[in-house]
Amino acid sequence: MTLAHPSPTSLSQEELAATALELSSAPADRILAWAERRFGSSAVIASSFGAEDVVLIDLARQYAPSLRLFTLDTGRLPPETYELMETIRKRYGVEVETFFPDRSRVEALESAQGYFSFKRSIEARKECCGLRKVEPLKRALSGRQAWVTGLRREQSVTRTGVEVVELDVDHGGLVKLNPLAGWSAKQVWSYIRDNGVPYNALHDRGYPSIGCAPCTRAVKPYEDERAGRWWWESAENRECGLHVRA
Ligand code: ADX
Ligand code: SF4
Repeated sequence: MTLAHPSPTSLSQEELAATALELSSAPADRILAWAERRFGSSAVIASSFGAEDVVLIDLARQYAPSLRLFTLDTGRLPPETYELMETIRKRYGVEVETFFPDRSRVEALESAQGYFSFKRSIEARKECCGLRKVEPLKRALSGRQAWVTGLRREQSVTRTGVEVVELDVDHGGLVKLNPLAGWSAKQVWSYIRDNGVPYNALHDRGYPSIGCAPCTRAVKPYEDERAGRWWWESAENRECGLHVRA
């Protein structure tokens, strides 16, 4: 992890390094409680309303109630995700700050390249993710000191190095917290069932990981949990750019 970088957070390099060490194997509730104390409403939770995210939302209501919740609505989400977003808004009484892609860029892309340009090449797919996810994420994080994600190391070959506390150099030096970094899928699902947390209906139809509708499919029992994301690409490419690692 690179910690030697100027940061817009109010944390000194020393505090950040000490916290990274202290929280590296702490339970998720303690990590969220630290975010609440240290950043309050200048920290945000990024949610696509996947299984990890609903766990984080449930925990945050108890241990980090000042953190704001945001989502990137790409315009191509499955209806089940919108249904869950609405359920979560009502169930927890939270506002879901919603970031949409730049209208004129989507219009230009679809007019010039059609509605499935992302199937043509990795570059074309990254262009679509860049426009619908990466640029809106920049806006969502602007002026914040920290963000919280549901990333887990076990999810894929691209995530084995995820740490609980990171310095997000790509977004200008924010603190990035991944409280579930060390959790297994089994732990996530035990939490959901034990606590009656609402979850995306697609999970019960063979979708362990859910993104945009045209880029997500169900997986076979023997496939890994992100095999249904951009399934036509090889595993090491299956990231959309939200979690670029410096
Ligand atoms: S993705 O980056 O390839 O889409 P994944 O779906 O596994 O990754 O999500 C990992 C984490 O990234 C989520 O737990 C969440 O914190 C964040 N994230 C992913 N998609 C979104 C989204 N559309 N809006 C907000 N946060 C998101
Ligand atoms: Fe575009 Fe697919 Fe990326 Fe969604 S996941 S932004 S539809 S390429």
